[in-house]
Amino acid sequence: MKTYIVGNWKLNFTVGEASIYLHKLLKAMPNYRDVEVVVAPSLIALQPLSLQVDRHKMKLAAQNAFYRDTGAFTGEVSFAQLRGIVDYAIVGHSERRYILREDDKMIAKKVAAAVRNKITPILCIGETESERAFGETADVIRDQLTGGLSEVSDDMLDKVIIAYEPVWAISSTKAAKAAAPDEIAEVVRLIRASLVDMYGAVAERVPVLFGGSVKPVNAGAYLTVPGVDGLLVGGSSLILNEFVDIIEVAKRVRS
Ligand code: 13P
Repeated sequence: MKTYIVGNWKLNFTVGEASIYLHKLLKAMPNYRDVEVVVAPSLIALQPLSLQVDRHKMKLAAQNAFYRDTGAFTGEVSFAQLRGIVDYAIVGHSERRYILREDDKMIAKKVAAAVRNKITPILCIGETESERAFGETADVIRDQLTGGLSEVSDDMLDKVIIAYEPVWAISSTKAAKAAAPDEIAEVVRLIRASLVDMYGAVAERVPVLFGGSVKPVNAGAYLTVPGVDGLLVGGSSLILNEFVDIIEVAKRVRS
């Protein structure tokens, strides 16, 4: 299985800045066949960057898109419009769940729309700090997983990636704290067991990524957590040498 290193740039970089950063990244990054490097720039930068990116080295992801292909949906951009421009799409990120009020039903439609348009959805799930404190982590994870995958049939499952991002570990969250590898291991075990309950043994092949305050110093520890196949990186993906270091850690740890 490949190791995925996905950089979520969130709402950062103008189109010009994104293009310069991508240029530098393509020059600086090593090309490892077994490490799939993906970056998720702002929607507005995707089209120009798709002409600039070397797809042998790196792929592009959308941070979001709309679930209907066309129609009267003012301000939206669809997965159908992104087809051919991106290979992946982040779906259900906690910032969209809690700031933009996306629910599991909408997220499920987005996951299905991505697959329908040959874009691999990276479905983000994760509990908040208070849900963890109240002992609700397992329920939240199961609900977000069954909710987000409710329109994914058995034959679509190999097109899906799951990212476990505990909201309390995301660097921009107030009082964020980095997750301990054994805390991650426990939830990833639960994710994998739930997937097998839902889909049977084929679910063992679904890549599961971890995200939340990933840095070059902890990337190795997180990538060696059993069941983790890659990392979803926020803040550190905006800093060229840190993101390149994380790619190098991935190669070292996995070979
Ligand atoms: P940080 O790496 O900045 O904690 O962000 C994680 C994240 O939300 C990636 O999607």
